[in-house]
Amino acid sequence: MLKFFITTFGCQMNIYDSELMAGILHEQGFQQVFEPKDAGLIIINTCSVRKHAEERAFANLWDLYHLTPKTAKKPIFCVAGCTAKKMGEEIFRKYPFVDLVVSPANIYGLPKLVNTFKKTRQKQLAIKNQASYIKKNFPVIHANKIKALVTIMQGCNNYCAYCMVPYVRGAEISRPLKNIVAEVRGLVKKGYREVTLLGQNVNSYHDGKNDFTDLLKKISSLPGLLRVRFMTNHPKDMSGTLIKAIGKLDKVCGHVHLPLQSGSDRILKAMNRGYTAAHFLQLVRKLRQAKQDIAITTDIIVGFPGETKKDFQKTLSLVKQAKFDAAFVFKYSPRPGTTAAELADDVSAAEKQQRLEKINQAQQDIARKLSQSLIGQQVEVLVEDLATDGKNLFGKTAGYRTVIIDASVAPNQRPATSDQQLSLYIGQLIPVKIITAKNWTLYGKSAINRLHRSNTISSK
Ligand code: 5AD
Ligand code: SF4
Repeated sequence: MLKFFITTFGCQMNIYDSELMAGILHEQGFQQVFEPKDAGLIIINTCSVRKHAEERAFANLWDLYHLTPKTAKKPIFCVAGCTAKKMGEEIFRKYPFVDLVVSPANIYGLPKLVNTFKKTRQKQLAIKNQASYIKKNFPVIHANKIKALVTIMQGCNNYCAYCMVPYVRGAEISRPLKNIVAEVRGLVKKGYREVTLLGQNVNSYHDGKNDFTDLLKKISSLPGLLRVRFMTNHPKDMSGTLIKAIGKLDKVCGHVHLPLQSGSDRILKAMNRGYTAAHFLQLVRKLRQAKQDIAITTDIIVGFPGETKKDFQKTLSLVKQAKFDAAFVFKYSPRPGTTAAELADDVSAAEKQQRLEKINQAQQDIARKLSQSLIGQQVEVLVEDLATDGKNLFGKTAGYRTVIIDASVAPNQRPATSDQQLSLYIGQLIPVKIITAKNWTLYGKSAINRLHRSNTISSK
């Protein structure tokens, strides 16, 4: 039986694709291993969003090659993901030990490509665009037992000036609502309690009949599911109807990832983003009105071509105004083939670094204050696992903050709950009182013993 090892770079879509590759290979009798030296097939799922991400994936490819036998026992090497689509055959020339190159749209054919290679020893290139694969139901193997990623669409039609995604993942296609619902129902049956609906721009989901608000309502109505998340959003497509639904639907978590990219209207225009800073701030206000304590996170690019100090100050000031729960800041990286790559990359590396640090500093202050404001409050946490020490529990708030839950009780009460009893809380929503907070991680207490009693009673 062929054993495979997968390593993943990049976004949630890539994580999902890796889980999908694992499921497809498993269905065909292949076995997943977690040590590269045990594998007969090594898959590197690459990301091409920034040059740095691409370089890291290839550095890892070399490392894996050096770690594994060069003899007849050499494993089959497969480069998958966005860079496979972008570079295609060039990968075989630059990395002659690579045997398969498979783009995201060709994942379904992976077992066949492996078998053909084994029979013929001919390198296999599968990078053609294919619309059909989004329509199928997927035998995904999820890394986590409580929460699962569910892809609802593929590709993107937006062509933001800096972005590779439309070129490597193709045009936007939405999966039919009924297929997504069937997949989520199946997950609930297996014990999953949370799903994250994934797409490059979930706000433009449309399967011909249903839009994203319809999908969110339908998924939230499924019994047994406790939480629904979604990402990523696009400020130009986030409708008032959707914001209302996010506010009203209890199972929809109070967390929206809303990429800003820049706070300067001039730069937003050059990026082809289709909204203004004022519109973005209005969305932030509306979201906060619709759902109490909603967490808003964002992505920002610094040093886009032509970004002046004044443009940058506008971004910094918007960050301070919007008070994001978290911001992921990236230095602009020219990507071949995108429209921005034709513009001069005229902000120096040092200046990009400075701008990135300025935003990170401002954001850290904001995030710390927001987390500290939760001290003393009771929050609802979905327990995902025992914490690494085995004595405490670990979970997430609706706003996606990590919480370490001290599950012991006061010495004058009953004895501490045993590990076995603690694991009964995995997959449950429990109230936790926050005691201390770091930037993103919270520490809290929960009266687990009392809860344990009521849970055992109610489950009888
Ligand atoms: N350079 C820097 N950051 C980029 N992103 C996308 N393309 C680039 C690029 N060429 C960032 C955007 C996006 C996030 C996933 O990656 O902020 O939202
Ligand atoms: Fe890239 Fe823009 Fe599409 Fe997001 S919306 S994937 S940034 S082109």
